Amino acid sequence: MKVLLINGSPRSKGNTALALNTVGAELNAAGIQTEMLQIGTKPVSGCIHCGTCRKKQNMKCAIDTDIVNSSIPLLAEADGIVLGSPVHFANMSGNMKGFLDRVFYVSAVNGGLLRHKVGASVAAVRRAGGIHVVDQLNKYLQYNEMLMPNSNYWTLTYGMNPGEVEQDLEGMQVMRMLGKNMAWLLKLVENGKGVVTPPAREDKVYMNFIR
Ligand SMILES: Cc1cc2nc3c(=O)[nH]c(=O)nc-3n(C[C@H](O)[C@H](O)[C@H](O)COP(=O)(O)O)c2cc1C
Repeated sequence: MKVLLINGSPRSKGNTALALNTVGAELNAAGIQTEMLQIGTKPVSGCIHCGTCRKKQNMKCAIDTDIVNSSIPLLAEADGIVLGSPVHFANMSGNMKGFLDRVFYVSAVNGGLLRHKVGASVAAVRRAGGIHVVDQLNKYLQYNEMLMPNSNYWTLTYGMNPGEVEQDLEGMQVMRMLGKNMAWLLKLVENGKGVVTPPAREDKVYMNFIR
């Protein structure tokens, strides 16, 4: 089994990477492979709501100039994903927002690429906005009917300069527990295949409140 760790920070070796790697170390200890996908180091466009991904049904975004399209197959192949973002003005990073809006929209309108995979979110924060960012990241997992493991606290960790989160002993424990619980959930899902039938997908009912 494999889990993709998605780092939305412009710092590839910053605090978000450390949080993700702490989750990843527990996954590795449980025999699950991990791969880090750095999406914060080069610009990523936002969604331009052109509808091409819905029209073409080719599992691709019409914008082909950044990391989004090459990442979609990696998400499709993974058994699980962990979304990680630094807190920027009490929000996720701009790159992370552009990346997730586009990848998850492509997924949602192309039959649910991520449906029933395991997904979790983490955030690195100096002081305030961390809970909000974990909630924002979780919104994407929830929309796509993903299975979400938890920890013994909300999954954020505190630090400003790279490496400082290691001093947040509680935050590091939260990441370790998330990794352990995620590994267990992944194994439950894997062992349930062919034993417990998952619910069939329903076409989405759109009720736009405008008549
Ligand atoms: C543009 C920008 C905005 C930030 N906004 C916040 C904020 O709203 N609240 C906060 O506590 N920290 C804020 N920070 C600090 C980062 O969240 C913190 O340094 C975090 O550890 C960075 O993670 P990274 O090393 O993975 O990039 C901000 C940093 C930047 C660069």
